[in-house]
Amino acid sequence: METALHGIRVLDLTHVQAGPSATQLLAWLGAQVIKIEPPEGDVTRRQLRHAEDTDSLYFAMLNCNKQSVVIDLKTSAGRDVALELAKRCDILVENFAPGVMERLGLGWDTLHAAHPGLILGSIKGFGSTGPYRDLKAYENIAQAMGGAMSVTGGPDTGPTVSGAQVGDSGTGVHLLAGLLAALYQRSRTGKGQRVECAMMDAVMNLCRVKWRDHQRLATGPLPEYPTPAEDLTAVPRAGNYSGGALLGNAVRCKPGGQNDYLYIVLQDASWEPLARFIGGEELARHPDYASPQARRAHQQALWTTIESVTLRHDKSEMFAILTGLGIACGPVLSTGDLVRDSHVRHRDMYVEIDDPERGRWANVGMPIKLSDSAVPVRRAPYLGEHTDAVLRDLAGLDDPEIQDLRARGAIR
Ligand SMILES: CC(C)(COP(=O)(O)OP(=O)(O)OC[C@H]1O[C@@H](n2cnc3c(N)ncnc32)[C@H](O)[C@@H]1OP(=O)(O)O)[C@@H](O)C(=O)NCCC(=O)NCCS
Repeated sequence: METALHGIRVLDLTHVQAGPSATQLLAWLGAQVIKIEPPEGDVTRRQLRHAEDTDSLYFAMLNCNKQSVVIDLKTSAGRDVALELAKRCDILVENFAPGVMERLGLGWDTLHAAHPGLILGSIKGFGSTGPYRDLKAYENIAQAMGGAMSVTGGPDTGPTVSGAQVGDSGTGVHLLAGLLAALYQRSRTGKGQRVECAMMDAVMNLCRVKWRDHQRLATGPLPEYPTPAEDLTAVPRAGNYSGGALLGNAVRCKPGGQNDYLYIVLQDASWEPLARFIGGEELARHPDYASPQARRAHQQALWTTIESVTLRHDKSEMFAILTGLGIACGPVLSTGDLVRDSHVRHRDMYVEIDDPERGRWANVGMPIKLSDSAVPVRRAPYLGEHTDAVLRDLAGLDDPEIQDLRARGAIR
């Protein structure tokens, strides 16, 4: 089957997670992605290794379907080869600290002069402008500074990071959108452009509804929050309360273990069937819960009543019973639950990969499904696995030239 980005070539100078997450999606959409690595490789190859002498799962899970070419960009010969490769690519992606590309002699002015059609995708912690422009960033720093940490956790906990990598992979997805738009614009104009995503901006974007609530603070407390205190100057932490227009919460189920919870969203039309199941006609007619406003005003007592029944069933039973009543809900699925989940397998979201060096391992699959673009997930490349082939086929170097570069330490 054809792939959506067939014929598009990407020079991938990314490392760690944010950049590689974007280029892996480009590869899964069918682009040829050539990852340029320093002689010691992307630092994540060596981080949290699960077996000696193999690349880490961290690296493997973010670099599938790519080629690996080792070029020492700090040598002038290496930098020149990289520029030659960039001239033959459509997109170059990088997520180095501010100033690194310029120090390597690969800043936008140089790239654009060498190849006016090249699209440059950059991820920075805070972007290339503004007071924070020179700062480095990692996931949790982006979550802290983008507002996510301050609104995550319970009323009685401190600020809390999310396990979802909204700063790294979340920014990668934003960059992908920009790169695809730039490719489309280039198809009309022939011109490349810079696409920049700051991790702080992406996290703010993903916290958009909290900015809705921030502005509502001016007109009074937020009744949907568990502690709708007066005089707040910032949006509080909602715990597992929905903090949205519809009531919602995670209720405990049998046997009361760490992940024995079911999340229930209470649409207005769901109240009567839920109430009848939980407490019969008496609860369904109870004046404290007779309207959405009344339920909101008494929601702490409401969730306690619901939990007194959900604790008699395990989360799967409860899920089946309530979905049978037309109530929107979902069990809290642990990583262990997800590995066994038939829906996850059906959707190709847990893909097992045979790998001669690492053995069999599994990756999270491609979350963007195109009906006419196949995604055969292939293992991540070994360090420098494609150096010779790419220099020969793309840069047009012959074997003596490649050997010469190797002897000079410009490539491995
Ligand atoms: C993630 C981050 C904090 C890591 O910082 P770091 O480990 O100090 O790495 P840097 O990006 O500063 O620098 C990489 C170095 O490797 C060098 N390098 C990279 N590829 C190279 C290659 N192929 N050959 C030779 N050197 C190479 C760079 O030249 C740079 O060296 P320099 O500082 O002497 O110029 C930083 O890259 C950053 O803030 N990136 C933008 C935000 C981001 O993506 N963060 C998310 C990470 S998941």
